[in-house]
Amino acid sequence: MKICMIGAGYVGLVSAACFSEFGWEVTCVDKDKNRLAMMKAGKSPIYEPGLDDLISRNMKAGRLLFSDELGPAVSQADVVFLAVGTPMRRGDGHADLSYVYQAVEELAPHLNGFTVITTKSTVPVGTSREIERRLRDKNPKADFGVCSNPEFLREGSAIGDFSHPDRVLVGLDDERAREVMARLYQPLSLRNAPVIFVSRESAELAKYAANAFLALKISFINEISDLCEHVGADVQEVANAIGKDRRIGDKFLHPGPGYGGSCFPKDVSAIVRTAREAKSPLSLIEQVSTVNDERKLAMSGRIEAACGGSVRGKKIAILGVTFKPNTDDMRDAPSLVIVPMLQERGASVRVYDPEGRKQAEPMLPGVLWCEGSLAACEGADALVVLTEWNEFRALNLSAVRERMTGNILVDLRNVFTPNAALEAGFYYVGVGKPVVARS
Ligand code: NAD
Ligand code: UGA
Repeated sequence: MKICMIGAGYVGLVSAACFSEFGWEVTCVDKDKNRLAMMKAGKSPIYEPGLDDLISRNMKAGRLLFSDELGPAVSQADVVFLAVGTPMRRGDGHADLSYVYQAVEELAPHLNGFTVITTKSTVPVGTSREIERRLRDKNPKADFGVCSNPEFLREGSAIGDFSHPDRVLVGLDDERAREVMARLYQPLSLRNAPVIFVSRESAELAKYAANAFLALKISFINEISDLCEHVGADVQEVANAIGKDRRIGDKFLHPGPGYGGSCFPKDVSAIVRTAREAKSPLSLIEQVSTVNDERKLAMSGRIEAACGGSVRGKKIAILGVTFKPNTDDMRDAPSLVIVPMLQERGASVRVYDPEGRKQAEPMLPGVLWCEGSLAACEGADALVVLTEWNEFRALNLSAVRERMTGNILVDLRNVFTPNAALEAGFYYVGVGKPVVARS
């Protein structure tokens, strides 16, 4: 089976590499010359654990190719994936579909023989139908089917998520397309991954509903964590207790500085727009996004409060700036709100992130970049953990404390236990648990 993947970003590149690992022949087409040059050299332009190996292995086997030429890749393909970005549109908060429709315009003249064109990008309800209309308009003789095949992988665990999915969702209304998509995912269905065929509208909406629900869970636990602080409960104990109920589930109940990333913020915004336009507003989901925006601001206030009410003239060490661990992605990271706010209020900020520096540097001007956690803590009045990279968990807190001038530890991911922090001499502020300090 031959695949053309248009867009080789976090989703396109991982999907392409995984499909080639199944044995399919995949050509990845991207417009970004820098990304392309790296990929052609067998290197991943993004940080995703395991991706470099997967790319180089499948390139050597001749199953994974990279190109900036759409024509030959489309004309040979059985399946053409659209995996371009669908960022938040300026002004109205809807999904910006200009990259999707641009790619559709570009691919239309090259269709050759029956071809399935499928979105992997997250697109609002009705987009598949509109893609079909545009393709027919542009190339009336072409023989094709349009599907929606939303992707549910997470950054940082993308290869595992793609290769062992909870489900594969395919929206279509064409029997020939169904046969092609069933064959494409046979390597997964043979391993008992459920491949679910639904209507295109259901597939498109299910993707947004899934992200909105996950975002809702996070905003819910963040509010419960605030309540815990007021009534003397511990949010980790509460989350563990409710998560054991299989109707609730124990995932996505970690409180933190608010969700970020390339998807939850924009997808929550887009489903809200879809619902308003359909005159069926999602008031609950609208609130999820408000709670999340306020959370990021509140966390800056929490750092100030821990520093005695002001950060003016204080040196603050920040560990982790990416929106989550195991990625270099900075899109909508809470750090992009929290760090500038601390700077505005007069703090000088020292930062260490294991993989995020290259992407973060232009986005966080005026911070001092350090080569490791201990270096970042040198002379700091306060230490703030924004992202829970594993290497932070193994830090020797006494060694950290010795490097610092002050003793404040604001742990916005509950990476450390209050007792360990206390033993190392810290005044410890976590989330959803009592503040601990030596009396
Ligand atoms: P990205 O910005 O990392 O990658 C998009 C790529 O498409 C870029 O490399 C860009 O150069 C390329 N591109 C744009 N227009 C093109 C064209 N006409 N021809 C060729 N290349 C083109 O985006 P991403 O994070 O991979 O997200 C892509 C889509 O997948 C979005 O709709 C997103 O919501 C969805 N999604 C993302 C994730 C994730 O974890 N990032 C997970 C599930 C779904
Ligand atoms: C998310 C979804 O989990 C994927 O299923 C989906 O495919 C993807 O969006 C997408 O559509 O792009 P991702 O954004 O990569 O994946 O990462 P998550 O692990 O979901 O984390 C998102 C944000 O929520 C991060 O900022 C993370 O720190 C935060 N989070 C997550 C919490 O604060 N608490 C939690 O319990 C879980």
